[in-house]
Amino acid sequence: MKGIILAGGLGTRLHPITLATSKQLIPVYDKPMIYYSLSTLMLAGIREILLISAPQDISSFEALLGDGSHLGISINYAIQPEPEGLAQAFLVGEAFIGKDPCALILGDNLFFGNELQQILRNSVSKIKGATVFTYPVNDPERYGVIEFDSSNFAVSIEEKPSKPKSNFAITGLYFYENSVIDIAKSITPSERGQLEITSINQIYLSQGLLNAQSFGRGMAWFDTGTHEALLEASQFVRTLQKRQGLMISAVEEIAWKNGWISDSELEMQGNKLANTEYGKYLLTIIQNR
Ligand code: TTP
Repeated sequence: MKGIILAGGLGTRLHPITLATSKQLIPVYDKPMIYYSLSTLMLAGIREILLISAPQDISSFEALLGDGSHLGISINYAIQPEPEGLAQAFLVGEAFIGKDPCALILGDNLFFGNELQQILRNSVSKIKGATVFTYPVNDPERYGVIEFDSSNFAVSIEEKPSKPKSNFAITGLYFYENSVIDIAKSITPSERGQLEITSINQIYLSQGLLNAQSFGRGMAWFDTGTHEALLEASQFVRTLQKRQGLMISAVEEIAWKNGWISDSELEMQGNKLANTEYGKYLLTIIQNR
């Protein structure tokens, strides 16, 4: 399976921070925001990644992540000229996806939890149609909302409904069969002028091909698009890391644990950042292995 990180957008809710830089490059505690979405794809076992961003920001992402070889993965880059909706990822990414299934993750989403890797790998291995990941929230009207019947089958999906039919939000992580490209080509912009991912998911739902995988208690999901949410996510990362001495979304650690980079490659990455807690952490995990 291939993976797309969508890291464009206007980031208007984070102005003035994002007036001159991309939202996904600003920190969530001690790392650039993009590390969190990248690490989620890596935990799913995905090694071929396309990062899509706005024309003015793409070179900064390239400077940060390069071709991905230091993580044992490949990262390609593509431009979304205007933020015309999440579903556009599959049009911009068509050549990259080729004939493969594809995951999409929003670059401002952070997932964390004990079972995350297992749930993701399981979903990748049995991909059929579309898989969305749901999470109970207090403010479902801000999200795509999914409604289930009494047998736990998805029956409706609505984008930012004023009267949500459930409190299950659809998170910013989606797995699709290759048919997503044709479906993305078939949809038209919504009233707010966007090619909505919800329109794609509604088509899979109508075909009986939408799987909803729930993230329950014990999983954390943040989208970091407001000042408040950004601070909360940063505090979450800081609290857990401080308490456990284990880092969240250290991408080099994940690459190493996946067997994608060697001990000496990890050591080299650690040495480059040796005067930071992050670099020291990478060096410590090799010593403690
Ligand atoms: P949003 O948070 O909905 O939009 P935004 O990032 O532009 O922020 P704001 O609402 O504050 O103006 O986007 C969700 C994620 O998807 C975010 O990581 C940006 C990205 N995105 C794109 O890359 N292209 C797009 O066309 C859209 C709509 C979003």
